[in-house]
Amino acid sequence: MIIKKDMNEEEINEFIDYALKEMTIKEKIKQMSGHDFFKLLLRDRKFGVRAYPAAGLKRLGIPPILFTDGPRGVIIPGSTCFPVSMARGASWDLELEEKIGDVIGREVRAHGGNLFGGVCINLLRHPAWGRAQETYGEDPFLIGKFGAALVKGVQKHNVMATVKHYALNSIENARFKVNVKIDERTLREVYLPHFKRCIEEDCATVMSAYNKVRGEYCGHNKYLLRDILKEEWGFKGFVHSDWMRGLKDTIGGITGGLDVEMPWSKFYGKKLKKAVENKVIPMELIDDAVIRVIRTILKFTTKIDLEFYGEDLIGCKDHVSIARIAAEKSMVLLKNEKNLLPLNVNGLKSIAIIGPLADVKNTGDHGSSNVRQSNIVTPLQGFRNLIEEKVKLSYLDGTDLELTKNLASSVDVVILIVGYTYKDEGEWIPEFKIGGDRDSLNLHKEDIELIKAISKVNPNTIVTLIGGSAIMMENWKNEVPAILMAWYSGMEGGHALANIILGKVNPSGKLPFTIPKNTSDLPFFDKNADEIEYGYYHGYTKFDKEGLEPAFPFGFGLSYTQFKYENLQIEIVSEKIIATVDISNIGKIMGEEVVQLYIGFENSKIQKPIKLLKGFTKAQLQPGEKKTVKIEVNKNDLAWYNPDKMQWDLEDIEYNLHVGGSSRAQDLLTSKFTIS
Ligand code: BGC
Repeated sequence: MIIKKDMNEEEINEFIDYALKEMTIKEKIKQMSGHDFFKLLLRDRKFGVRAYPAAGLKRLGIPPILFTDGPRGVIIPGSTCFPVSMARGASWDLELEEKIGDVIGREVRAHGGNLFGGVCINLLRHPAWGRAQETYGEDPFLIGKFGAALVKGVQKHNVMATVKHYALNSIENARFKVNVKIDERTLREVYLPHFKRCIEEDCATVMSAYNKVRGEYCGHNKYLLRDILKEEWGFKGFVHSDWMRGLKDTIGGITGGLDVEMPWSKFYGKKLKKAVENKVIPMELIDDAVIRVIRTILKFTTKIDLEFYGEDLIGCKDHVSIARIAAEKSMVLLKNEKNLLPLNVNGLKSIAIIGPLADVKNTGDHGSSNVRQSNIVTPLQGFRNLIEEKVKLSYLDGTDLELTKNLASSVDVVILIVGYTYKDEGEWIPEFKIGGDRDSLNLHKEDIELIKAISKVNPNTIVTLIGGSAIMMENWKNEVPAILMAWYSGMEGGHALANIILGKVNPSGKLPFTIPKNTSDLPFFDKNADEIEYGYYHGYTKFDKEGLEPAFPFGFGLSYTQFKYENLQIEIVSEKIIATVDISNIGKIMGEEVVQLYIGFENSKIQKPIKLLKGFTKAQLQPGEKKTVKIEVNKNDLAWYNPDKMQWDLEDIEYNLHVGGSSRAQDLLTSKFTIS
């Protein structure tokens, strides 16, 4: 029997029946691990320059899996380098994320790969988490929507997407050992919904996490892998391990529900074959994994016309322009006193770009998400390319403070570029001692000194922050008139920054997390923990519940224009709650507003957050324009997980519904509804 083009489900199942009869145990077990990884690594002398193989069987024509990483883009050299996921989360723009997925899907194919291991949706429980930049924020609803949009875009090109790291992988340095304790409600309501959302989007594969949950490694975790993912959610794809240390023993992995060991057969391969031959492991478990692997490979690889994916697609002009748009839509304006921004170039003679990161190619961490792209526009380069000639542009890195102060005092405006690099945060690779969780949420001492010194000599100082999550600003934020969160903004970040500061683009990003005034307001975090409990509240739910005032709330971001909200209406139509609200642009320029919908649970008889994000949309408005915006919420999204009954329950109470431009009470209109 041969594998044909465009096989439907029935044909795939027929082939699988045939293959299972035809294959030897050794061939079956080959489908359950990566191969040739070290050979290729030795040959290339570098990681990440190609897609890595797993499974496949030439004799029967089954193509191998070819894995590559993300999420900042495809990591293989030359690919389009997008802003990090956290930045994209700040765009609140799902259409854009799907487009980014579409580009990634094309580029994976053009590189010869077929599996994109880069849909990272672990929850930002604490901003010190080193890999914060790889996810989309602190809220499960937001990250679920973004993960699903990326999956949808990538899989349009018949590239298998992997959602990772399943589950509760929100500390970096301790990831190989930490045991996460969690109660059932918190697991179901806070840490798993975003994974479920991606599975509903038909995500092909799942990568298990390194850490333990309730005493069991995630790669062996029967409750997570078999009971919840495969049984309850009906996941039909395959689960593969996180690399190198994701699997700890043969029997644990196979009984726990891990289908494929990556990137090589340390515990599967010969050891697994032996376990089957010795009847320690029943053949049915092997067959189940093999069925999952072959079914997924065939589903994705028989539908593809590879001639559409030429190498000229990789990092092409169209893709790079999407990277620029993503950077522009993700930057968050946090402070803008006296409307210093946008700069009015007509009245300006001189600008100084200052700071240690002003002319650094800084796209984020140097771990598995590092896109190998050298064509990166730094902030300085962005201004040089876009500023009009009549404005004098100077640059200093800020190391000589006296010299820098002299320059700063002589120019009209200073743009300071400070923050982090891969040395401060990112994936923790013990061998290289880079990245990891942050020990402090403050800027470096030198950056703070620079901000304080420069703002004293020039009142028009704009601070631009580079980083992957919250940065504390309390000890300097009152000394500067303008602050912009620019993230690790990808290969076009410099152009995006210049466009925003010079007013060619109106900022529209909103924070996908809470920035605290005091770090003591955050949940407990220990980067070296052997064990930790993840509680029900973190981020804005914790701030709301404890009545804490953040420095900048979840969902907050300024624009160069202002929006007015009025006339909030609610209609219940069968299984949906439909909210409409009128929004007007009452400023002088076109702008985009992220409209957020929160459900308020103040009347709940059980322990619940004060409110939860349950909908959002982005609206574009011309000056003076008024639009009616509609946001729908599924009734089921209001359910809570009843741990006694082990089921989702809907409470029959009066709910509050809030709509507005941030999670802060003063930015929200409120109305009430019941669902009975
Ligand atoms: C990371 C994964 C990555 C894998 C392969 C692991 O160490 O945790 O996110 O996909 O390496 O590079």
